[in-house]
Amino acid sequence: MDLVAPAVGRGLATCPRSEHRAPRRLLQPLFHPKRLEGYVDGMVSAVRTVLDDWRDGDVLDVPLEMRKLSLRIAVSAFFSNQLPPAVRDQTADDMTAILVGFAQRLARPPLFDLLPTPANRRYKAALRRLRRMAADTVATRRANAQDPGDDFLALLIDGKDARGVPVHSERGEIDQLLTFLVAPTATAGSVLSWALQELATKPGLQERLREEAQTVLVGSPAAAEHLGKLEFTKQVVTETLRMYPSLWFAPLRIVTADTQLGGYDLPAGTVVAFSPYLVQRSAEFYVDPDRFDPDRWDSASLPAPSRQAFIPFGTGARQCIAQDFAFNELVLALATLAAQWRFEPVAGRPLPTRASVNLTPRALYLRVFSRENTEGGTATGVPSSQSAGARPGNRRPTSSPAWQI
Ligand code: HEM
Repeated sequence: MDLVAPAVGRGLATCPRSEHRAPRRLLQPLFHPKRLEGYVDGMVSAVRTVLDDWRDGDVLDVPLEMRKLSLRIAVSAFFSNQLPPAVRDQTADDMTAILVGFAQRLARPPLFDLLPTPANRRYKAALRRLRRMAADTVATRRANAQDPGDDFLALLIDGKDARGVPVHSERGEIDQLLTFLVAPTATAGSVLSWALQELATKPGLQERLREEAQTVLVGSPAAAEHLGKLEFTKQVVTETLRMYPSLWFAPLRIVTADTQLGGYDLPAGTVVAFSPYLVQRSAEFYVDPDRFDPDRWDSASLPAPSRQAFIPFGTGARQCIAQDFAFNELVLALATLAAQWRFEPVAGRPLPTRASVNLTPRALYLRVFSRENTEGGTATGVPSSQSAGARPGNRRPTSSPAWQI
């Protein structure tokens, strides 16, 4: 928590228990099932904008692309698309510098943070820019709000608790805005990267996913009504969340009264951590737990594993506020990706992993092939920018930059 606090301060994910209830109550309605449908078009159009930059045969830096994609989704949902494109692109770069900074800080003594290395300077500059961007976003909204509405920014600015007291201070608004940028970008980006890595190495699964996406979407962009029909895509998402829970070790709890848990005495004040990664890879709960097998989630033929054995979004009062939002996002993104693109591993590119704040491949490059070229037309019916002069800049260098997480 101390590690990520310079970016997100005392936002919802990092605030102490005493400050948690009011903002959680205020923001929870944003994720009410009735509201979720309203995010879908923004999600799908964010995904398609990122895919429009890809060209047939490109070798892509997958975590970078997936981070861009989830950042755009977050900007569409929580910033009401208010960021100018140049600021949004700078924010995407800054997010990468921040996540790299987190990874480095986790692995070395704090003294190193004080050294004026290029990476430290990049991290600090990115932090300053992000906080300035958040402050500007709030100020712009405040200045322009005729009708405050009930979106995320409106709740930040106007939200009051049960006694009518504003929930957020000026600093609290910025912390919360950045929480709703960092949390979705880091987590969803990493889960999608792992899903693509698994699919690239398992062409049979990839074809099943494509078949489902093309059958369900029948040439149109993914929409809310498709969510209920993308059954196999959901199984792939669930299996990816099982094997690669983005927050593999993050959720911490402090025991508030002497208690017993699993036969251990835990005095008040004890810090307890649990690892979704270890639970979800335990042979106690899953047959052949290290095998990526979406069919283990086929509800028609198999009983669901116990609820306690599947906790990628945590559990209890601090459970991920956006778990249904995130699940929809992953399903829609994966269906759109699978319908339009085929993914292949790149020979001679091993997959280094590193335990960081979240579980992200340190480097993952995949070659992408347009389904339009191999199958005579995009599956979504959306004209791809392949032939219309795609924007440059997304082709990946042949060697990983040193700062890549
Ligand atoms: C695949 C995507 C995601 C995963 C795996 C994930 C996972 C988690 C986990 C494990 C926690 C901690 C739960 C606990 O302590 O028990 C958490 C909390 C949180 N997540 Fe997510 N998350 C994801 C997406 C998102 C998205 C899209 C948002 C958007 C705003 C978000 C916002 C938050 C917030 C604000 C908290 C703190 C909740 C609280 O303490 O009240 N997450 N998430």
